[in-house]
Amino acid sequence: MVERNDNPSGSGVAAAERGGARRAGAPRPNPVEGSLVYPLGSRVNERGHLEVGGCDVVEVAAEFGTPAFLYSEEDIRSRARAYLDAFRSRTDDFEVLYASKAAPISAVYRALAEEGLSVDVASGGELHMALPAGFDPRRVYLHGNNKSEAELREAAEAGVGYLILDSFDEIRRAEALLDRPQDVLIRITPGIEPSTHGYVQTGGIDSKFGFGLDDGLARRAIETVRESEVLRLVGLHAHIGSQIFELEPYVKAIEALAEVADPGIEILNVGGGLGIAYVSEDQPPSIDDYVDVKVRGVERLFDPVPRILIEPGRSLVGNAGITAYTVGTLKEIPRVRTYVAVDGGMSDNLRPMIYGSRYEALIANRAGETPDTPVTVAGMHCESGDILIRDAIVAAPAVGDVLVTPATGAYGYAMANNYNAVPRPPVVFCRGGDARLVVRRETYDDLVARDV
Ligand code: LLP
Repeated sequence: MVERNDNPSGSGVAAAERGGARRAGAPRPNPVEGSLVYPLGSRVNERGHLEVGGCDVVEVAAEFGTPAFLYSEEDIRSRARAYLDAFRSRTDDFEVLYASKAAPISAVYRALAEEGLSVDVASGGELHMALPAGFDPRRVYLHGNNKSEAELREAAEAGVGYLILDSFDEIRRAEALLDRPQDVLIRITPGIEPSTHGYVQTGGIDSKFGFGLDDGLARRAIETVRESEVLRLVGLHAHIGSQIFELEPYVKAIEALAEVADPGIEILNVGGGLGIAYVSEDQPPSIDDYVDVKVRGVERLFDPVPRILIEPGRSLVGNAGITAYTVGTLKEIPRVRTYVAVDGGMSDNLRPMIYGSRYEALIANRAGETPDTPVTVAGMHCESGDILIRDAIVAAPAVGDVLVTPATGAYGYAMANNYNAVPRPPVVFCRGGDARLVVRRETYDDLVARDV
């Protein structure tokens, strides 16, 4: 199977051509200020260092070590407000859910609870993190295509507002377990395949998620739940995929939901999926345009208009985060390429390997210098595929430089792992010039802490 790059603008051939054109072309201007890729408000400071959330990234790297995930807290909060404002200007019956799989970090949960969002959790673990962070249990939505009995029980005990039911087995399991009325939504698979990597499409017929329309399963699920004594069907849900730049598929998904909805449907959860800029060529739709399409779609097709829910993950936290590494070795292979090896790699960012995702790089301690040197940024892990960026253009790198990759705030920390027994990086929140450690680095002792 040939998989597409997850970046709609970055299909293999075009991306290679762009790399080539860049190498031959004129030096590029400073890539930080005004960039869609870096956290809002990022700049190159008077010392020529990258600044994020008012913090000098080189100083933060020195204080907390590398690799490290740095987030601009203000960026996360302002995107949450952008979502809320986009809704408020169009309707008063809505909820914005943080799809917390994108960055299951207590401080992120807390910030978004404070901003007034609800939360989508996809496991007992995410539920366990969301509740102490301040989310009202009634504003928690539990997802998953295979929720265990334990997870269903934990949700019921916590008073979770809504379960999103995904299969007939789950309907039976929930019925058997629950003894109090529980509000539920049914997940519909609308049969839509937006342009994004196949691994993150979720709305097609051949999907492990939800109930299909054409096969009649969705209708049967609705009837089954309506007959239940404990499950109270209040809404429908559809999430068609992730890192999507087109808006049209969302309209199609809403049309599909309208086919099976009836006036008993009080809540319509139309999912997440808004793509972000990973590299400067990427031009995702704005949060406002994305919300507009969803609200107008629902208002056009539903009467009465149900409460509209969306559940963005990546577009809330993706551009808020960067990863800071230290350059450890340079390997120049004449006429082939120069490898710049950093102190992390596929243990903190699996996305290049899994989805062929493209990233940019910047030498943070010489951020004002012209990026003019093509390099391949490699990780420190024991396999050749551990490449973070093929053909990045950076200021001539040197051992000891702080190299950053922007747009790593979503699904980076979330999918971090301990390959080669590498401790996972810390998370630092930067805001107004203050750098605050919110998750410490794992230690070697942590690596053996679960041994029995
Ligand atoms: N709702 C549901 C039911 C989901 O499954 C997801 C993502 C979201 C919302 C949030 O989607 P977002 O707004 O973040 O696109 N590991 C992959 C992404 C997997 C997405 C899984 N579901 C990556 O690194 O690209």
